[in-house]
Amino acid sequence: MYYIGIDLGTSAVKLLLMKSGGTIEKIVSREYPLMFPHPGWSEQKPEDWWNAVTDGIRELVDGIDTTEVAGIGAGGQMHGLVALDGDDRVLRPAILWNDGRTQKQTDYLNHTIGKEKLRELTGNIAFAGFTAPKILWMQENEPELFARIRKIMLPKDYINYRLTGSFVTDYSDASGMLLLDVKHKSWSDEMLRICGITRDQMPELHESYDIVGTLTARAAEELGLPESVKVVAGAGDNAAAAIGTGTVGDGSCNISLGTSGTIFISTSRFLTPPDGIHSFAHADGKWHLMGCMLSAASCNKWFMDEILRTKDYPAEQKGITDDKLGRNHVYYLPYLMGERAPHNDPAARSCFIGMTMDTTREDMTQAVLEGVAFGIRDSLEEVKKLGMSVPRSMICGGGAKSPLWKKIFASVLNLELTTPETEQGPGYGGAILAAVANGEYQDVQDACRSLVHTTGSELPDPELAALYEERYQVFHRLYPALKELFPDT
Ligand code: XUL
Repeated sequence: MYYIGIDLGTSAVKLLLMKSGGTIEKIVSREYPLMFPHPGWSEQKPEDWWNAVTDGIRELVDGIDTTEVAGIGAGGQMHGLVALDGDDRVLRPAILWNDGRTQKQTDYLNHTIGKEKLRELTGNIAFAGFTAPKILWMQENEPELFARIRKIMLPKDYINYRLTGSFVTDYSDASGMLLLDVKHKSWSDEMLRICGITRDQMPELHESYDIVGTLTARAAEELGLPESVKVVAGAGDNAAAAIGTGTVGDGSCNISLGTSGTIFISTSRFLTPPDGIHSFAHADGKWHLMGCMLSAASCNKWFMDEILRTKDYPAEQKGITDDKLGRNHVYYLPYLMGERAPHNDPAARSCFIGMTMDTTREDMTQAVLEGVAFGIRDSLEEVKKLGMSVPRSMICGGGAKSPLWKKIFASVLNLELTTPETEQGPGYGGAILAAVANGEYQDVQDACRSLVHTTGSELPDPELAALYEERYQVFHRLYPALKELFPDT
């Protein structure tokens, strides 16, 4: 049997074909545009996602016996607001997870409704990227469109809707809307009321490994697949990546270095998070804690593509030799799109600090890599406040392809970092969920035990960790010192 895993990312969709037993037979990727119509805003067209998915799947299954395709599972960029009218037309471009337009609505939720009330209703406080403040933004700024909303969904739910006709979501992704009572896994009617919406506008809730439908005749034709293909509810991309890296069970950790950077700690029960951290449902039926940086590998991509104007990232990292690590005099604040965890500040901005006449291009590249690692360390420190010890982590995502970056991360975080055989975290996780739903494994944990293999670990170097500890203490003071100087969005 074959399973298709969809990773609906921010710059592209990555699709993979997994054979029973876990082998990845093929990977296909399709890019789509990301629009920044105002500074700090971030939008995408759901139709672009759909075209990329259908086109990509056609290539993915080309040449195989398609009657052998048993299931599809998607992991998707979280929090994006997709709003449909009564004729299932998309009302406006999706407002994405890294969009910072909702400072006013986020402040209203956190300060007028109040953080305590939000925690009581949902388990979390409001962050600008979450879906609820975006709904309030639409209500205030686009009242005619808001009045026409009949269905509210998340990015991968839009894909599942077009695949199956089922208006559904899963608990892990729904957690990031700030409309779900995460602990009790049901919509919070009080939160829906606060946002001016009702339950009939909301998708039906499912566990990630539930089958939510089979392909409609139209989707089957578009994809070149039989109608019998089962589609699972899928998961938010971080929960899906956690499945793809075997991050299940109490206390296991995954770091994902994609456009965003996340640290994800799997928990067997719901834990009330500190202010900068999220507490969401996991795709294995349990829960997790997560810190999310809005710009991670994207900081390096920006510095390489836009500033150094190169595509040869490894060449730029070549000159950053071991003797330079922990000794860089340049700091970089990784807040190109504002910051979520732990600062919750859409107005935060990136800076290089500490350059001198002898600062080199390598120093600045190194500062970017280090700044992202320090940003994740900020979230790890928040998690530690809950008394959790995190001695090791998996690491995945495009950024994890760089051995240098992994070395920096291991010593900045003082964690053993293990690399899975595939860095296709969310896509592999989606395919695993589909295999579980098809009865190939008893449950998600069982599937992870059988399917996830690792290639090696990066251990922290005690001397380097000590050097980085000193530098982290400086980094940690830079944002509070600069906060008041960042312009309002
Ligand atoms: C998580 C988050 C990001 C997106 C990126 O809260 O906003 O990781 O899911 O795709």
